[in-house]
Order: sequence, then structure tokens, then C-alpha cells
Amino acid sequence: MTDTTEPTLTPDEREADLSLEQLKQLVGLVEYDEASDPFPVTGWDAIVFIVGNATQVAHYYQYAFGMDLVAYSGPETGSRDRKAYVLRSGSCRFVIEGGVRPDSPLLDHHRKHGDGVGDIALEVPDVDKCIDHARKQGATVLEEPHDVSDEHGTVRMAAIAAYGDTRHSLIDRSGYDGPYLPGFEGRTTSVKRAADAPKRLFQAVDHVVGNVELGKMDEWVAFYNRVMGFVNMAEFIGDDIATDYSALMSKVVSNGNHRVKFPLNEPAIAKKKSQIDEFLEFYDGPGAQHIALATNDILSTVDHMRANGVEFLDTPDSYYQDDELRERIGKVRVPVEQLQSRGILVDRDEDGYLLQIFTKPIGDRPTVFYELIERHGSLGFGKGNFKALFEAIEREQERRGNL
Ligand SMILES: [Fe+2]
Repeated sequence: MTDTTEPTLTPDEREADLSLEQLKQLVGLVEYDEASDPFPVTGWDAIVFIVGNATQVAHYYQYAFGMDLVAYSGPETGSRDRKAYVLRSGSCRFVIEGGVRPDSPLLDHHRKHGDGVGDIALEVPDVDKCIDHARKQGATVLEEPHDVSDEHGTVRMAAIAAYGDTRHSLIDRSGYDGPYLPGFEGRTTSVKRAADAPKRLFQAVDHVVGNVELGKMDEWVAFYNRVMGFVNMAEFIGDDIATDYSALMSKVVSNGNHRVKFPLNEPAIAKKKSQIDEFLEFYDGPGAQHIALATNDILSTVDHMRANGVEFLDTPDSYYQDDELRERIGKVRVPVEQLQSRGILVDRDEDGYLLQIFTKPIGDRPTVFYELIERHGSLGFGKGNFKALFEAIEREQERRGNL
């Protein structure tokens, strides 16, 4: 008999006034038996970006994504070689880091990868237990478990290596009530929002997709299974996700309670360069490709982000006029015309449906982008939309001369 326990809210979720019912719908949170998990993960701690100009990127997320600045560290707070801005939206925490001194190691990361995700930090209840297990399973431990403290308490943390130069910090902040980590001071946003702006544009991180090299997807699936106790969620291979020119293989792993979901992509052989190959070339290796943000009103989120200058991929009108598609998606909460006018995609499976849309790459390189996702029962990732999406992405690749 397996004991499952009702999940509880994380402090970040409580602070964001989210309920368990909302999270079950937003990100597909499920019950599971944490006691039998060799590497229990509670949820996301932070997505940590390394960028060329943290000061300006932090402004972009405050203005365009409606995020709130909550903490800062930099030369003024004793951090000599870097600036870091901590932003929140609901339970999402983004940390934007940039190098200040010419010899900052962050600048080496940026020179190689461009703006990208350096750390997908996870909240865990027992850092030492996770590291013990990870080490036994052959993981590379980048930082041994250690305490960092200030007047707000103590954070226990460690880090292991993931794909490429990406790492997973493991954070237990249960003994800490500061704005982020020791060394950071509280800050508030100076961006003025429009009077009709919603409190926030998204509530939670749903998934983070990793792109790995040809032939490496199964290795990384095995890594998350073996080292981090993640379970396989869904699987789709080859023809399912192919156009004439692009193809990829993708498998999805998730932590026990499904808060943390990692689809892993590898390129597949096709007539022309796939978007995964393009990513691997321009990111100079494996890395985080897109971050999916959960919203309970994707129409409003898209309207506000567009008004703030965020660019989304175009969806061909033919997508919405296709009888087969209309049949497949059935009835959704708004008329298809409202989705069409915004380019929002629909997918349906046996559990329900989801609405999703993808931004264009947000940096200079054709690498990192965002997805907005509104789930209604479906725990999928929009498999049925991959072909339509790929065709839209290929039109963009063609314009950049990379097809
Ligand atoms: Fe996605």
C-alpha cells in the first residue's frame, strides 16, 4: 500500500495567496508519498538567469512581464563582482544576475551562452539527504551542503550539475524569513503600472524545458530518474513532433508532486536544421530552452504582455479553420475566434484541455523563450500543437537565415 499525502502549500505560494485547488488546476499538483522519495523536492525555488545587463533585463521583467522587484544584491550590498535582482510573480521567483567586474565568472558564462538560465534552483526539505543520494548515484556535486546566515535566519543549500553548464541548487529556506538569501536586501519596484493592470500576469512556473544533444535525451531522463527520483510523465517520439524540415524527440520527467516538470528534447534527423539544433548551436551546448508560466487567464495575460511589447509567435489562420482541429479541441471556455485573434493554441487529451502560446526568443540569440499555459485538466504539454508550432517557428528561422 502506498501512502499519499495531500500536498501542502509552500511559503512562496502562501505569500502569493494561492490555494491548493488553484495549484491543482494551474500546474497539475498531485498527492504523493514524500517519505519514500530518496530525493524529495517540494517545488521550484528560483530560475536564475545569467545575462549581459542585469540592470536592464530586470527592468524588462518588471515592465513587460509585470513582475515585482523584491530583493537586490550588488556592489552597494557587498557583492563586489555581480549584481542580482530578485523578481516575483505569484509563486514564481526569477533571479537576474550580471557581472560587474571584467573578471567576473558570470561574464564567461555570458560570452559562451548569451542570456540564459544558469541555475534551476529547487526547494527541498532535506538538502543533506538529497546530496547523499545524488552522490551515491554518481551526480557531480558542485557545492557541498552548507549554511548561509544573516539576521533573518539560516538557509541550507548545495548544488549539483545538470545538462550543459546548467545547475540545480538545492535550497532549504525553512529557517529563513529574509527577502531572498543572505547578502540580499529588500527592494521594491519603481515601475509604475497602468491603473487597470492586473495584480500579476502569471502565478507559477509550470515547466522548464531542457534541450540536449542528439542521442543524450535518454541519458538525462535516466539522470532525473536515478539521481533525483523523478518519474516519467509522458512520452512522445519522432514522427509525432515532426514537420518536413524539423523534428525532435521529447520525454517529460517530473518530481513526485508534479510541481517541477522537465521536458527534455533532443534533435531528430530531418531535412533541415531543427529548432533544437539551432538552439544547441547558438547557446553553444545544452541548456534551458523555454520556461512555461501558468496563468488562470491567458487571454488577459497575452493582451497585457503584447501591450507591453512582448512578441509572440504567429499562428496561421489555417490552424483555427481546420475541421479536424476544431473537432479535436471540442468546447473550450472561450469562442475559438478569441483564441485566433491572439494566436493562442489549444490541445486536448483524455484529462481535459490546455491553452498555450509561445513568445519569440527574448534575447539576442535565438535561444531562450517563454510559454504561457492555462490548464483545464490536461496534464500534457501541447503535443498536438507541436506541428503547428514548428511550422510557425520555421517561418521565423527562415527569416533569420537559419533553416
Ligand atoms: Fe512547454
